Amino acid sequence: MSVPRLEDLRELEGARVLLRLDLNVPVAEGEVRDDTRIHAALPTLRWLLERAEVVAACSHLGKARGSPDPAYSLRPVAAVLERELGRPVRFVPDCIGPEVHRAVEAGGLLLLENLRFHPGEKANDPGFARELAFPFTHYVNDAFGTAHRAHASVVAAARLFGAGRRAAGRLMEAEVSALRRVVDDPEQPFVAVVGGAKVSTKTAPLMALLERVRRLAIGGGMANTFLLARGREVGRSLVEASEVPTAQRVMESAEARGVELLLPTDVVVTDSLEGPTRVETVPVEAIPADLMVVDIGPATRQAFAAALADARTVFWNGPMGVFEVEAFAAGTVAVAEAMAACPGFTVVGGGESVMAVHRAGVADRMSHVSTGGGASLALVSGETLPAVEALEES
Ligand code: 3PG
Repeated sequence: MSVPRLEDLRELEGARVLLRLDLNVPVAEGEVRDDTRIHAALPTLRWLLERAEVVAACSHLGKARGSPDPAYSLRPVAAVLERELGRPVRFVPDCIGPEVHRAVEAGGLLLLENLRFHPGEKANDPGFARELAFPFTHYVNDAFGTAHRAHASVVAAARLFGAGRRAAGRLMEAEVSALRRVVDDPEQPFVAVVGGAKVSTKTAPLMALLERVRRLAIGGGMANTFLLARGREVGRSLVEASEVPTAQRVMESAEARGVELLLPTDVVVTDSLEGPTRVETVPVEAIPADLMVVDIGPATRQAFAAALADARTVFWNGPMGVFEVEAFAAGTVAVAEAMAACPGFTVVGGGESVMAVHRAGVADRMSHVSTGGGASLALVSGETLPAVEALEES
């Protein structure tokens, strides 16, 4: 079964559309600090605004815990939407109830308040989903970043709308199709680069990737755990000693499958992240006991770039070091640049790696830059996304 698209929607004239977006953007001092996800939502918003009478955008934001919390209000997002769309956005201070009903009657573009101000959202509560869906004739889900969550606005609410009345938006469609291309039918050589701090959060994607890739390059904090599993001393580096058996399992599986596993051979080490007085490049056999690993070294950058050069498919998730500190960003930037130079199908899987490709100025040279960290990793792990499944159901 395939996901219904916007074109599959029927009777849009006079329609009142509930549009689930992932507007979970960083907000500080009442201002949106990164509008990538807002931009990604614009094509679907524009398409619907040309056809429907009411479009009510809804989303979660931040770590709201089931009750109103001004720190996680979506209000600052309304201003950005107004600016980008060049039309008024009516902000509704709740996502269900009489205020929403009144705003829907008035028509136009609405932005509803944070869904997670209600406990029913995370609980996938059918009653909350009914209240949310009640004023609307159609439902569109463009919140790819939330597709791995079985929450009310993406699962229970979607099920309340029949065929021709619910669809995936443009972003959801593009994300699912790019990531399915990587998962279902990757052109070889398929190379994956995985980084980030922890092995424990990436075990499932690592094991799933091993079934498909020809080469797997591992960097970032998680590489330290692999180095430890190989008997190296890693000084004061971030490690997960409890994940050494997982690292061993990954290495054994790579060996058994004939997957080339690339681990750092040299690393950048320092004494302090905040105020480094020592920054050195050392081979992994000689990591000083009083220093910590903060980036991959130049020889490793070159080896990872060489592994990417002839790739026909690339998937990358997770930075190669503490890239938010300028002095330790070179490894992550090198991977971003090597991907940009690769003529194959290149996918950046959300989160910090997306920030890195933007920082390296190469985002537009990727085949696909995902807006969903957790969701893209779930897809790559072979999991079904509850939100996509709910849209596909007949
Ligand atoms: C994300 O930013 O990964 C998505 O918006 C999902 O947010 P969550 O991890 O709080 O469910």
